[in-house]
Amino acid sequence: MCLMAISNKVLIIRDKPEKSYCILCISYTFITYTFNGTFENRPESGANYSLSMQETSTNITAERKHSHVDICLNRKVCFDRQDRGLDAWIFEHNATPEVNASEIDLTTEFLGRKIGLPLMISSMTGGYRDALELNRTLAETAERFSIPLGIGSMRQALESSSHRDSFSIVRKSAPSIPVYANIGAPEVAAGLSRAELASILDLVEADALIVHLNPAQELFQPEGNTAFKGFLDQLHTITQTISVPVIAKEVGCGISAAVARKLADAGVRAIDIAGAGGISWQKVEEFRYLDRFGKEERFSASALDEFLNWGIPTPECLTGIMSLKEENPEYRKVSVISSGGIRHGLHIAKSIALGADLAASAQELLKALHSGTLEPTLRTWANDLRAAMFLTGSATIEALKKAPINHKP
Ligand SMILES: Cc1cc2nc3c(=O)[nH]c(=O)nc-3n(C[C@H](O)[C@H](O)[C@H](O)COP(=O)(O)O)c2cc1C
Repeated sequence: MCLMAISNKVLIIRDKPEKSYCILCISYTFITYTFNGTFENRPESGANYSLSMQETSTNITAERKHSHVDICLNRKVCFDRQDRGLDAWIFEHNATPEVNASEIDLTTEFLGRKIGLPLMISSMTGGYRDALELNRTLAETAERFSIPLGIGSMRQALESSSHRDSFSIVRKSAPSIPVYANIGAPEVAAGLSRAELASILDLVEADALIVHLNPAQELFQPEGNTAFKGFLDQLHTITQTISVPVIAKEVGCGISAAVARKLADAGVRAIDIAGAGGISWQKVEEFRYLDRFGKEERFSASALDEFLNWGIPTPECLTGIMSLKEENPEYRKVSVISSGGIRHGLHIAKSIALGADLAASAQELLKALHSGTLEPTLRTWANDLRAAMFLTGSATIEALKKAPINHKP
């Protein structure tokens, strides 16, 4: 591994996955590969953060999961540019709907299971004390609406035996809905053993495994892991090994048609596009970085805004993947989840008309949970969806998939 020497900096290079560091030169800031491989250039105040690998990595994982919830609730973390989002799409009105609003059927099927609404609560949390109550409420609510629930990254459960109840509570509180386990691309790329995979799937009696792809988040994360090489091969091994379907998801930068093709070739059964339009995880991690080190010196100030808003808008991901499916029928069997900025039920309806099988939401539902309005919010979203179906003459979710929708000029 090789890095260019930069004057007035300290370069710390780890050229083996173990621990061999070599210090090249010294000054007021330093660039380092942290214990799990991310390239950084950060102020000296953070110098004592990166060491003591084993124990620290467990604590950091729990701290990170806690601070994510806090930052997503309290800071400005959404993408700045909304003009290319779902609001730029508008349904064609149908003046003769030929359906009674009261008879509209919101149920649908996803990965072989019947669900109450084409909506999923996106993966959020687990692995620290307060996550238990959060996950309990999310699970009880998902159970009441009969909708799937994604669990937050279960990396912590692989690193430590503490807080396992913050994950297992989900299945206890939601015995009948589809529950999806979750692990990150860097963990997959590093190679997960059968025992590790079994342990996270068993912990929640998972109906599927979500693998999240978050290169931009890891890049901005103070302790991020940017070792993504070999991921697709490892993913393929997992899809051929485990008995439940694998869902690949982004976390807010979107999935292009070209990447969707690779994921489908690796054997995933569903893709959650998680496009740009909701939370920018670069911004979330930038807040954590600034809280810790005080200033941003890793990237050029003039490039930073573009990096913080980096990603493919949600509708562009959907239309791209639909073109792929049209060109190549082999990919039609891959289900698509639309997420990244779902803020109401009309967004769910537009997602489905643009080709998704399901929509998913994280931040809006977290805010609703925090303000004690999760159930009324979901009921309102169901009403929005029903209204859009009535006004497009769509009696079922399958019919909504064919409703005419246009991009605003
Ligand atoms: C507090 C919080 C924590 C999250 N943690 C995870 C995670 O552990 N694994 C994951 O795949 N996605 C995680 N996400 C990302 C969401 O599942 C979702 O993909 C993303 O936020 C975009 O959706 P949104 O715009 O509706 O928030 C998290 C989201 C939030 C709000």
